[in-house]
Amino acid sequence: MRCFILHIIKTILFDDYYMKQFKLVNELLSFIDLKKQQNKTIGFVPTMGSLHDGHESLIETCQKENDITIVSVYVNPIQFNSKTDFINYPRNLKLDISCLEKLNCDVLFSPDVEEMKKFPKPEAKINLGNLNLLLEAKKRPGHFKGVIIIVSKLFQIISPNRAYFGEKDLQQLLIIKQLSYQMFNEINIVSCPTIRNTYGLAKSSRHRNLNSQDLKLARVIYEILKDVKRNICEWGVKKSKKYVKNYLTRLDKINLDYFEIIESESFSFTEEFNSNYKYYAMIAVKIGDVRLIDNLKL
Ligand code: PAJ
Repeated sequence: MRCFILHIIKTILFDDYYMKQFKLVNELLSFIDLKKQQNKTIGFVPTMGSLHDGHESLIETCQKENDITIVSVYVNPIQFNSKTDFINYPRNLKLDISCLEKLNCDVLFSPDVEEMKKFPKPEAKINLGNLNLLLEAKKRPGHFKGVIIIVSKLFQIISPNRAYFGEKDLQQLLIIKQLSYQMFNEINIVSCPTIRNTYGLAKSSRHRNLNSQDLKLARVIYEILKDVKRNICEWGVKKSKKYVKNYLTRLDKINLDYFEIIESESFSFTEEFNSNYKYYAMIAVKIGDVRLIDNLKL
């Protein structure tokens, strides 16, 4: 009872001081309406939780550029193309709340599946070309459709001035840029650099499903990407691909899903390296059941 009274007093006295937590769309909408009437700019960081340094960097950039920062935590069932992957996806809302409070985030939106289902699916279809055919789109059928549906719903609800996405998921970032260009022109998509640990491994929520030995093994992903970046002019594309394949075949427990070099403007595979264009090395591997992706600009 004492705690409850203290909480009420704190909320009344320091309304803008504590992080607001919403689970219902209508409550979030009333808050956003109020802030928009006050001419506040709104920045949005969508996540699936199990927050780490990568998410934190997006949130900190968002805080610098907007009056209000809204973070969503929602493990979106329709973007998982395997039920086991959805069930095994790491979740810890309590830890996420303390992380967001430590960062002084303004709002956490953590709806449940029923709440998000109530909100209508977007009508229009977007044209994605190769982005919807290659790499992650090919390996995880339906994945990006699920991402587009949930991000569109969240964009419609929050209608932020800016939304923040990581370069670690490059194909997703490019798809969201197309979504904004074709359907949500008023939302500015901000891309944020990949955050890596001391050994270069790109931070990922999925690391919580790896033991310390596997985490050590995962460091080779960045090592390989760096080797290719260093040698691409001499090796060209074909030899680089062979190098990656041979390197990983020698190692137990880590399996190559794909390694490709893409030209980023057209998002197409390339067999030739021409330094006038912008290329990325794109990789996906599996360590046991855990799938990790990464990329590096060449
Ligand atoms: P999630 O994997 O939680 O990632 C949320 C955001 O954090 C994405 O934009 C992702 O690219 C970014 N991110 C993840 N790891 C990062 C790292 N090491 N460095 C920089 N940014 C990083 O991506 C999703 O969730 C979902 O698909 C979502 C967009 C929320 C839709 O459900």
